[in-house]
Amino acid sequence: MSINSDIPVRVTKITDVTGKIKRFRFERIDGQPLPIFSAGAHVVVTMHDDGHMRRNPYSLMSAPHDSSCYEISVLHVEDSRGGSAYMHQGVREGDHLTISQPVNLFPADARGRKHILVAGGIGITPFLAMMAQFRRSHTEFELHYAMRSRSHGAYWQKLMEQYGPERIKVYFDEENTRIPLAQILYNQPLSTHFYVCGPAGMIDFCLRTAREAGWPKENLHSERFLAPPPGQKFTVELVRSGKTIEIAEHQSILEAIEGAGVDAPYMCRGGACGQCETGVVRCDGSLEHNDIYLTDEEKAGGRKIMVCVSRFKGKTLVLDI
Ligand SMILES: Cc1cc2nc3c(=O)[nH]c(=O)nc-3n(C[C@H](O)[C@H](O)[C@H](O)COP(=O)(O)OP(=O)(O)OC[C@H]3O[C@@H](n4cnc5c(N)ncnc54)[C@H](O)[C@@H]3O)c2cc1C
Ligand code: FES
Repeated sequence: MSINSDIPVRVTKITDVTGKIKRFRFERIDGQPLPIFSAGAHVVVTMHDDGHMRRNPYSLMSAPHDSSCYEISVLHVEDSRGGSAYMHQGVREGDHLTISQPVNLFPADARGRKHILVAGGIGITPFLAMMAQFRRSHTEFELHYAMRSRSHGAYWQKLMEQYGPERIKVYFDEENTRIPLAQILYNQPLSTHFYVCGPAGMIDFCLRTAREAGWPKENLHSERFLAPPPGQKFTVELVRSGKTIEIAEHQSILEAIEGAGVDAPYMCRGGACGQCETGVVRCDGSLEHNDIYLTDEEKAGGRKIMVCVSRFKGKTLVLDI
């Protein structure tokens, strides 16, 4: 994705949803309609935070057919590296931001006759758009939504009113209510699709349980809001552009490349899409792969790295870019 295709938007409304979640409404500055997107898509929001440029992906939660505005919801992450904190503390109604064109790595499978959605916490966001799409196309679905507590959870009362308690089931850690996964996975009609978005542990558990229950891989879908760990400083040499850059502890390689004025492709910035795959020419240490895109063999081979999330432990990493 190139910066040239970015869309300048105005923040027209900010709503406090819970103590830690804010909803942002974006409209185009030129008043034109925004591109129609498919449910499950995200945009990358560019933030200029006191000299730092931050780019974080956020799922579009508004109705996909509504081109008058986009809405996202942002959880203020504890120990934020800066992005979600900036959205909460630095962005005001009326501010201008740029967002990428919508990209969908988590679409609903159009062949599905029924769709089971499992959300944990802020992982509800892509499902808000999906449910609007399902309602419009009269497609059968059910949502199972786990939250820490009634006060921490976003949107659940509204969803129960909108879609009814037979389609929306809610669970609260604080009340020891758990998603009955085995029961949900059992005896579903053929061509049911299963989607999960939430904490990594929840996604892994759901996918493993579904596979063990005999669900075909093609019917299982997940999206991770990946938050990779920081690491040690290192140097990167970019052979094609002839630049040498330093990667700080809390900076991704991609951010440093962009900071050096080199145009690098990206789509998800979360280690899932493969767009930022970069060849490793040589290195004097070990690659720290944090993506879910490369195969285990590719990771072990040490010839490729996903620069949006992965790091390097050593002195110098030489990349083919
Ligand atoms: C497809 C997708 C959709 C998402 N949708 C939502 C949503 O709807 N709502 C929501 O609240 N969150 C969403 N997220 C998560 C969101 O993008 C941010 O990760 C989250 O807001 C936390 O951001 P942060 O900057 O505060 O925190 P941190 O997690 O502390 O920092 C994230 C930043 O770290 C940088 N980074 C990446 N890898 C490394 C590394 N190895 N070392 C150092 N720095 C690194 C990245 O550039 C990234 O911007 C989504 C993520 C993805 C991938
Ligand atoms: S931008 Fe998608 S994997 Fe890096």
